[in-house]
Amino acid sequence: MRLILLGGPGAGKGTQAAFICQRYSIPQISTGDMLRAAVKAGTPLGVAAKAVMDRGDLVSDDIIIGLVKERIQQPDCSRGFLFDGFPRTIPQAEAMKTSGVDLDHVVEVYVPDATIIERMSGRRVHVASGRTYHVKFNPPKVAGKDDATGEDLVQRKDDEEATVRNRLGVYHQQTEPLVEYYKTWGGTGDKRAPKYHRIDGIGSVDEVKDRVFKALG
Ligand code: AP5
Ligand code: ZN
Repeated sequence: MRLILLGGPGAGKGTQAAFICQRYSIPQISTGDMLRAAVKAGTPLGVAAKAVMDRGDLVSDDIIIGLVKERIQQPDCSRGFLFDGFPRTIPQAEAMKTSGVDLDHVVEVYVPDATIIERMSGRRVHVASGRTYHVKFNPPKVAGKDDATGEDLVQRKDDEEATVRNRLGVYHQQTEPLVEYYKTWGGTGDKRAPKYHRIDGIGSVDEVKDRVFKALG
């Protein structure tokens, strides 16, 4: 199983990715998590990416495509994988197509912008694992602590309202064209085209999970 989770910032990609990856025993490839790990480790990539991410802009296609191509060569990807937050531009999608990376499904989680602002302000994350919580909608068992490790949860630096608004603008401008890109590809009858599913991302985490699983069959 190889799939893409597409959706705006805070649509719930990371939250739903955890369920899908568990069900199909596939790794979650979140380019955002990979970049945050590089920032934390202070690697040259992390140093270069930090300012871009803090503004809510996109890291360059070349860097991201290189990262992902290397990641999908790892042995844990032999049974498939889930892309969370990738591809995010037409060139990133084209890079997968031209390098023969076939995908089974594209799952778009759709949430209107106003709801996104509310979700972001309450988000808390466990940095080491990427596990995501919400103070109101998806709280941890112990406030401020990760369920599995008991370690501290933090707020992401790019979750300030002004940055979220920029990320939404970047999404509409640079990533949303992928909706038409995949729908159009599917319409050509090409057997390589992934199946496209649009999921309503409004509702509880469990309700959205049920919709995603129903779409995947
Ligand atoms: P990335 O980490 O991918 O951020 P994003 O796409 O903006 O998505 P988020 O992680 O913010 O949201 P999510 O959809 O995963 O939602 P979540 O499940 O956490 O990217 C960060 C940055 O890295 C980018 O801005 C860019 O600079 C760079 N980058 C990454 N990939 C790149 C690429 N391919 N190319 C170029 N640059 C790249 O949920 C959000 C909150 O809502 C949580 O608190 C959650 O608990 C809560 N929630 C979830 N579902 C529900 C629900 N149903 N009801 C109520 N609350 C819910
Ligand atoms: Zn995420």
